[in-house]
Amino acid sequence: MDALKERLAAKLTAARERSHLLTSLDDADLVAQVSPLMSPLVWDLAHVGNYEELWLLREAAGVEPMRPEIDTLYDAFEHPRATRPSLPLLPPDEARAYIRTVRDKVLDSLDGLRPENAFLFEMVIQHEHQHGETMLATHQLRRTSSHLVEKDLAAAVTPCPPETYIPAGTFIMGTSDDPAAYDNERPAHQVDLPAYFIDTVPVSNGDYLAFIEAGGYDDERWWHPKGWEWRQNKKIGAPAFWFKEGVWLRRRFGTVEPVPFDQPVQHVCWYEADAYARWAGKRLPTEAEWEKAARWDPGRQEPRRYPWGDDHLPGRANLGQRSLQPSPVGSFPEGASPYGVRQLLGDVWEWTSTDFHGYPGFRAHPYKEYSEVFFGPDYKVLRGGSWATDPAACRATFRNWDYPIRRQIFAGLRCARSA
Ligand code: AVJ
Ligand code: FE
Repeated sequence: MDALKERLAAKLTAARERSHLLTSLDDADLVAQVSPLMSPLVWDLAHVGNYEELWLLREAAGVEPMRPEIDTLYDAFEHPRATRPSLPLLPPDEARAYIRTVRDKVLDSLDGLRPENAFLFEMVIQHEHQHGETMLATHQLRRTSSHLVEKDLAAAVTPCPPETYIPAGTFIMGTSDDPAAYDNERPAHQVDLPAYFIDTVPVSNGDYLAFIEAGGYDDERWWHPKGWEWRQNKKIGAPAFWFKEGVWLRRRFGTVEPVPFDQPVQHVCWYEADAYARWAGKRLPTEAEWEKAARWDPGRQEPRRYPWGDDHLPGRANLGQRSLQPSPVGSFPEGASPYGVRQLLGDVWEWTSTDFHGYPGFRAHPYKEYSEVFFGPDYKVLRGGSWATDPAACRATFRNWDYPIRRQIFAGLRCARSA
């Protein structure tokens, strides 16, 4: 139990250090609305503390509300992102003081931690990291250069076949016993799939450029009808943040640089991913195809937590905002899954063809607004995490979801085809 408490305290601290780093900006930048798609950063900051207060103080420890009058400000369902700047939000100093007080009480409460509440801690830790990734997307949308420092992840690229064959057969999807798993990853259940091929690495900027240069954005044949409508309305012809001045450039955290053709493409929406795949003569993988390729060990007939095994190992994937961009395709051969598929975790979120739904036997836990209210045809599932995802919120069962038009997230794709 003491080891568990220490581990949880260390993880809470790491998440908080990230939040502070991402909000060490002038007050004016923290309260600014960078984009109607995003909250002001000061909202994210107080929201993670308010969420922590709700779940770890009120729910787990039975502590009285500290500032019940602010709950509504930080309830994501009461106020859409676009309207958050006009709320009477806590100013940056007050937000920092509030989340500090919550955190001190949470650390004190760890002595009385009941094992059945351990998941609430895992949930709150992941929640703060998820907002860390959201805040980073806000940084990416800012036009000014960033104070964030890139720690170079020297990734060795080795050759690999373009596609991997996955034979027909059943595998176990989801999990019933992962202590950090959200409700939407549960329960474990058997799924039978026909044989298919899946790309061994994500689609690169170079691959994607070939689609652009082949006129892919102007050819309705490749597009989902709603995607075509989106493309016509928005007059889009390249991933977000790309522009052409003789050569293709991209803006990344306020700096303009040549597009690196060997990196996985990012900042494409589902409609673009879907169109690319059709142009390439393939399709997006289903979520089940992605997960089987990522974690099924056909020799032992068992799933893994990560493609490379059951333990998180540094150096097997580009995660955790160390590098501020994806690693070249073909990196991390040691991070491959049992089938030999690479870069499944980290680098870029990968769009799948699947709508977000509960698995058979789904039960909302601990609240239906985490997952259940998003089930249905409006959201597409993304898998694998990006370079901006913390390892604490990344595993081969983890499910993310977003609207098919979203591009500010760190998302790309890999293709599949039926065998
Ligand atoms: C899982 C990334 C879709 O940001 O809306 C954060 C995570 N849920 N606070 C989101 C989340 C509540 C969620 N996504
Ligand atoms: Fe949240």
